Amino acid sequence: MVSLAAVVSVLADSDMSVFRPATPGAESIRGLFVLVLAVAAFIFVLTEGALVYCTIRFRKQQADANEEPPQIYGSLPIELAWTVGPFLIVFVLFLVVIRVLMEVRPASDPPNVVRVTVVGHQWWWEYQYPELGVTTANEMHVPCGTDKEPRTIYLSLRSADVIHSFWVPRLGGKTDVIPGIINHAFFQVNKPDTYIGRCSEYCGTQHANMMIRVIAEPKEAFDKWVANEVKPAVKDESVRADREVFLGLGCVACHTVRGTSARGTFGPDLTHLMSRKTLAAGLLENTPVDLARWIHDPQRYKPGCKMPDLKLDEKTVKAVTAYLQTLE
Ligand code: CUA
Repeated sequence: MVSLAAVVSVLADSDMSVFRPATPGAESIRGLFVLVLAVAAFIFVLTEGALVYCTIRFRKQQADANEEPPQIYGSLPIELAWTVGPFLIVFVLFLVVIRVLMEVRPASDPPNVVRVTVVGHQWWWEYQYPELGVTTANEMHVPCGTDKEPRTIYLSLRSADVIHSFWVPRLGGKTDVIPGIINHAFFQVNKPDTYIGRCSEYCGTQHANMMIRVIAEPKEAFDKWVANEVKPAVKDESVRADREVFLGLGCVACHTVRGTSARGTFGPDLTHLMSRKTLAAGLLENTPVDLARWIHDPQRYKPGCKMPDLKLDEKTVKAVTAYLQTLE
């Protein structure tokens, strides 16, 4: 159940406000939301108003006369009104919902498309760009389009473990991420910005720390990002000893650093870790201090997460941090 506090916080938090749509799909959803809200508010005011009116209007009369107000039975106009009225309201809402569903449904062959495979993991997001040869985590880069030349970001969503839900309110509705099923979603965004989202299906202890950042940027900036991401990891000889320390640890069983012997796929790809602004699915800033803290004791910051505490001593943490920081 969605709590009222959660609803209010989503409405108030401007980064995740459904009232600030940035795509045609999110705009349709806002329109529907406002319509339903208005209809519900109208019915609420009408019924509560009638209740309050009757409570005040007839309280004195009943107390004085000690008898019930006159009752009305079998009024055809009234019965018709309370049957036909709600029916019409539900019918109109049904039609509007169908229209919005058609509007936000991905076209099977969208023009000018960038395809991204989204994989939900406990508790982080993997983004693969199969046509570009890029794999990254938690921060999805996408190119902006223009009114003349819209660009479609076409998502195929699947899960590595349990059910998650991909939701970036300013870009569109929620899409469930279900094991064994591939769902699809799309959006077209023209305004460069960082769009924030969250997993919106309870998926375990760290569900709340499974944030999404979609960085929509001009085509040139996106191409530059891709050009860097497709390269193998930087091989900085000044951290050669630190690299050896990293490659000798259990880290490599879960993480990939392309161009090295680290080829694990259970955790996020670290090949270009420094191109990301956050760590641990948006929980920590990607600063040298936070990176070292995270490596030293991930369970302290994200209790229950799948990254174990390897009980590394200070010297080892320092070496690993130094090496990872070269992964631009
Ligand atoms: Cu993933 Cu909640």
